[in-house]
Amino acid sequence: MSAEGFLDAIRAVDPTRQLDDVLTLPDQLSDAIWRYEGAAISRRESTGLIVAGMGGSAIGGELATAVIGERLRAPILVVRDYALPAWVDERWTVLCSSYSGETEETLAAFEDAKRRGAAIYAATTGGALAERAREVGAPVVGVPGGRQPRAVIGYGMAITCELAASVGASPGLAGEIERAAEFLRGAADSLVELAAALTETIGDSTPIVAGADLTAPVAYRWKCQFNENAKLHSWSAELPELDHNEIVGWQGGAPEDGFAAIFLVDADQSERITERTRLTAGLVERAARSVTLVATKGETRTERALWAVMLGDLISLGLAARRGVDPVDISSIDELKRGLAAS
Ligand code: PA5
Repeated sequence: MSAEGFLDAIRAVDPTRQLDDVLTLPDQLSDAIWRYEGAAISRRESTGLIVAGMGGSAIGGELATAVIGERLRAPILVVRDYALPAWVDERWTVLCSSYSGETEETLAAFEDAKRRGAAIYAATTGGALAERAREVGAPVVGVPGGRQPRAVIGYGMAITCELAASVGASPGLAGEIERAAEFLRGAADSLVELAAALTETIGDSTPIVAGADLTAPVAYRWKCQFNENAKLHSWSAELPELDHNEIVGWQGGAPEDGFAAIFLVDADQSERITERTRLTAGLVERAARSVTLVATKGETRTERALWAVMLGDLISLGLAARRGVDPVDISSIDELKRGLAAS
């Protein structure tokens, strides 16, 4: 399928223009930095940074940690739960990230952070989280409304990187992030072409995505986007760990439409991981309908991680088009949240 045909097929199932949000990911990065600077957050050394959030509001924190990589000077941990780890105290900083500002796990984590005397920050469009943050004088970095939480991953990543620098957990990466935005703008056409080809390769199979180091959270992002945008089962795993369990699952064969195995590989990964990827792909090939190695593009870790995120997001929209489903629809999450609110 041509790139134009691919985009037209997406537009036909995408009345709320999720495609535009994916293609404008680079614009989120500069805007996020601008918004962070506008929040006038002062420097405060911390033992470490916790990002408390769920789903689309948590993944940006995970990505930021991977992008910082070996430059990390203090721990950054993403907590997707009601409570913070027992050892979090007033020397820690907690970024509560919730697009709606209404997610019960994140609100509970906020209260937990408050009880422990941690320094609290919020990234949100508003809701109860913004209100509670203002009540205790916690700085709020505003995220623009009217989108899907998973569509604002650029904000989540850039805000986490900026806060990590403010608490001494990372060097400042604002320049690297701005340069990545330029790089992604230039890469958009080739990303669409590659996404069209990979959507066809996956076809009707169940995608199983593997990553390592920088690409581990990206593999998880691909899985989540396939779930939410394409209403499709998908799994992600991480090397080297998958070589100690999941690889045996492949030994048992595959269901009728088969599995599409995708390995995300990055220039920064160690030689042993490269060798493992080669050997693992060879073993998986015996049971998978297709095996694809996708090498990230870009100079910096930020460029390469976001390049791969954009690619996965585009494929998820391509798979939604192929399945004739509206990418914006997440009615089962909405129904579950309504059920929880009523109980
Ligand atoms: O993609 C989604 O919509 C979900 O994963 C949400 O991000 C998740 O349910 C948390 O909601 P919120 O981002 O509003 O805190």
